[in-house]
Amino acid sequence: MQYDFDQVIDRRSSNSLKWTECDQDIVVQDLGDMDFKAPQPVIEAIKKRVEHGIYGYAQRPESYYHAIMEWIYQRHEWEIERDWLIYTPGVLIALAVALRTLSRPGDKIIVQSPVYHLFFNIIRNNGRQVLINPLQMVNNRYEMDFEDLEVKLEDTRTRILLLCNPHNPTGRVWEEDELKTLAHLCLKHNVIIISDEVYSDIIFKDHRHVPIANLDKKISKKTITCISPGKTFNLSGVRASTIIIENPVLRNPFTHAMIDMDLDISNIFDVIAIETAYRQGAEWLDQVLAYLEGNLDFLSSYLQERIQRIKLIRPQGTFLAWLDCQGMEMDAIALKRFMLKKARVRFSDGVIVNPGARGFQRMNFACSRTVLKLVLENIEMAIDQTFGN
Ligand SMILES: Cc1ncc(COP(=O)(O)O)c(C=O)c1O
Repeated sequence: MQYDFDQVIDRRSSNSLKWTECDQDIVVQDLGDMDFKAPQPVIEAIKKRVEHGIYGYAQRPESYYHAIMEWIYQRHEWEIERDWLIYTPGVLIALAVALRTLSRPGDKIIVQSPVYHLFFNIIRNNGRQVLINPLQMVNNRYEMDFEDLEVKLEDTRTRILLLCNPHNPTGRVWEEDELKTLAHLCLKHNVIIISDEVYSDIIFKDHRHVPIANLDKKISKKTITCISPGKTFNLSGVRASTIIIENPVLRNPFTHAMIDMDLDISNIFDVIAIETAYRQGAEWLDQVLAYLEGNLDFLSSYLQERIQRIKLIRPQGTFLAWLDCQGMEMDAIALKRFMLKKARVRFSDGVIVNPGARGFQRMNFACSRTVLKLVLENIEMAIDQTFGN
């Protein structure tokens, strides 16, 4: 079927975390979900389950896991065994459980900033220390700094590297060579890799997602991979993700912790939504990717032609645009206030993903083109009023 992503759907009265708590005229483009309806087969399957009328405890059938395994093989050529898969109600919970089971309080966890702000919270809130391996800007794209990484890996308290692949907020889809170098450094220093691959299906043309654990067996034995249908099919509110751990030495404590905390039981609607999405959602995903890429082209041209003070660091994947607003010569607080009060748009603030940095905003462009155009017109007008050009 042909999906209509141009349709503007009001989300303010739908208990959406993203669309609450702001004035009626503000356009929200911060949190990581899309303003599009989920794949139609998923909607139909949930409706059918609702009609059944009995919502007792749920069980995940084997076909649920096989749908996930087949998806990963078809999309990423990664062959996974059934035993490696663990259900968790969200990726952040999985990160917390992994940190608690595989490191000790006070241990250091490497992150590559700018990076998803909740990485910092989850590490600190679970009593571990953040160790930053900053990404470097080279020829208008972010790259890893392996020299600095090796120094951080040599620290005797470093236990885990928390990788974001594809990377939020820079949109980098890490290439095989980069991932190999990173993984071999981690192996050399006996550091576990947790690879957050929630954006692995949101990849633009000419790029390919490489699951780090699929590079070779040695790497797989040291890696925990987190995937989720949340970003792929816009089902983040369904709260279901999949953690892939080949090595039983890493997997068993993780699984036991999930059971001990009674976190291993699915919601009755999760089960049906997730299996249906992985089995019947490909057509929707392919169309949404084309639409997102169209949004990206539109955004890129608009900025180049009409808002030269803001530069797009074009993402290779994800639906997040990392906007370089240094041309506006504002400190972090002034920039945030400008976007919210003058342009009437709410982006994610650059400083929360890159402590100490200024001049960046993260825009979620998974919205209808009409809304994207409105946002850009608002910014253009606010800039003209402020700078008079
Ligand atoms: C990189 C990354 N990891 C994890 C999450 C959160 O995942 P979940 O909602 O499954 O906890 C997000 C959400 O935006 C994200 O961007």
